[in-house]
Amino acid sequence: MQQIESVTTILLFMAGLFILVVGAGVLLAAVLFVIDVTQTKHAIRRNFPVIGRFRYWFEHLGEFFRQYFFALDREEMPFNRAERSWVYRAAKGVDNTVAFGSSRDLRPVGTTLFVNCPYPTLDEDFAPTAELVIGPYCEQPYRTRSIFNISGMSFGAISKPAVLALSNGARMAGCWMNTGEGGLSPYHLEGGADIVFQIGTAKYGVRDEAGDLSDAKLGEVAEHAAVKMFEIKLSQGAKPGKGGILPGGKVTQQIAQIRGIPAGQDSISPNRHKEINDAAGLLDMIGRVRRVTGRPVGFKTVIGAYGWLDEVCAEILARGIESAPDFITVDSADGGTGAAPMSLIDYVGLPIRESLPLVVDTLTRYGLRERIKVAASGKMITPAEVAWAICVGADFVNSARGFMFSLGCIQALQCNKNTCPTGITTHNKRLQRGLNPADKAERVRRYAEHVQHEVEVIAHSCGVPQPRRLRRMHCRVVMEDGKSIALDELYPEPPGLTSKAA
Ligand SMILES: Cc1cc2nc3c(=O)[nH]c(=O)nc-3n(C[C@H](O)[C@H](O)[C@H](O)COP(=O)(O)O)c2cc1C
Ligand code: SF4
Repeated sequence: MQQIESVTTILLFMAGLFILVVGAGVLLAAVLFVIDVTQTKHAIRRNFPVIGRFRYWFEHLGEFFRQYFFALDREEMPFNRAERSWVYRAAKGVDNTVAFGSSRDLRPVGTTLFVNCPYPTLDEDFAPTAELVIGPYCEQPYRTRSIFNISGMSFGAISKPAVLALSNGARMAGCWMNTGEGGLSPYHLEGGADIVFQIGTAKYGVRDEAGDLSDAKLGEVAEHAAVKMFEIKLSQGAKPGKGGILPGGKVTQQIAQIRGIPAGQDSISPNRHKEINDAAGLLDMIGRVRRVTGRPVGFKTVIGAYGWLDEVCAEILARGIESAPDFITVDSADGGTGAAPMSLIDYVGLPIRESLPLVVDTLTRYGLRERIKVAASGKMITPAEVAWAICVGADFVNSARGFMFSLGCIQALQCNKNTCPTGITTHNKRLQRGLNPADKAERVRRYAEHVQHEVEVIAHSCGVPQPRRLRRMHCRVVMEDGKSIALDELYPEPPGLTSKAA
């Protein structure tokens, strides 16, 4: 009898709860209905009250559903699943071979193919990647064998554990890490990587009270032996003509202190260096930074108009080759960013396929190819893309998003919102917990080493002992008629010097 009573009580309670929940739901729907039909901002919600709201939710979820269920392996942008999976597997150190055959369609215009040699390089003839010297005329030139390096991402755009993992991973892999425009943090140094300090237009980390470049601060940065080079950022591919943007929510006390700006406010850098108006101004600034720091100094830019590059070369020849930038980093129009306006991301600047040959050939025409090293960046996250750039004439390839994938980035595209689910681009401590710097440093190392190793594999298949011997003739690109053409026919090299190992 007692049992029946308790069952009845539970049932009554459940029924009451049910009525309460349904009642609350109906009430909520009624409130939302009234809000929707009376508001005037959203047509969909006004015409389809309550139901119209699901559109926004589905739109948001669609990003994830497409990625997991609907998008084909080679379909998504900016990076498709095949590319991302390659990076994930390389970073985890799991088997990166594929079975049965290629799922890559070799027919579309622009497809690159490498020309294998009938007599590939024998294992015993493999040579280590040649060392290059950057900045032979400065006090402390930088020597490196690394081909594949970590491109600029500021501490601010990315989190403390991300910087730590990248810096440690770079040290273990023997590649360099660029600070991006946010200044030098203790975490860059803690990891022990070779650091390229970037001087952005706001001069974060090396600015005086008035926001101008400070020689004293430059000197302080150069006191760190880990800082091997300085890079003046003229522009980056994702936002040419626009300075960096770090939303106020990401400007923590520490980031503000490193940058020399107020905390909690949007950190927006000017759209160019006010000291650099022309070729002379550019070389003056390069000379100044090199004099104060004793380190190699170069600049980063996305190419759009290009007559100015001829002016820079002519000015170098007039002043003497010591005055030249020690390196140029050419960024692709489709490069990544923490945050940028869509009109600039999508429409301004030339992609690396066009700009890299143009820069290399301009330097060659002026006899400066040996003196000025060239780094290329822009969606080159797998060995084939890196090998393409080396064939065209780059000495180095830098990647930002490739290394983000090695840290576990799932391409959720929320880098500007401080809500990154993988802890890479957020300062939210709870989300950062998922990113273990020690574990991820190993992944960074494996990824960097794997890329370098497979570029070597491509070189050997093409019959040369090491990647720096790759030339344009080793790579072909599919044209409109379906046939491929060698890069040295597509971009005939002007006669001149080449900095690569002979
Ligand atoms: C989160 C994030 C932050 C970045 N911050 C900078 C920066 O501070 N300075 C800079 O020159 N480039 C910055 N970049 C651009 C990259 O350095 C790189 O040039 C570009 O993303 C192309 O390389 P990728 O295609 O391998 O990402 C940033 C990119 C990302 C994704
Ligand atoms: S997971 Fe998303 S938000 Fe985080 S870094 Fe990757 S793309 Fe940006």
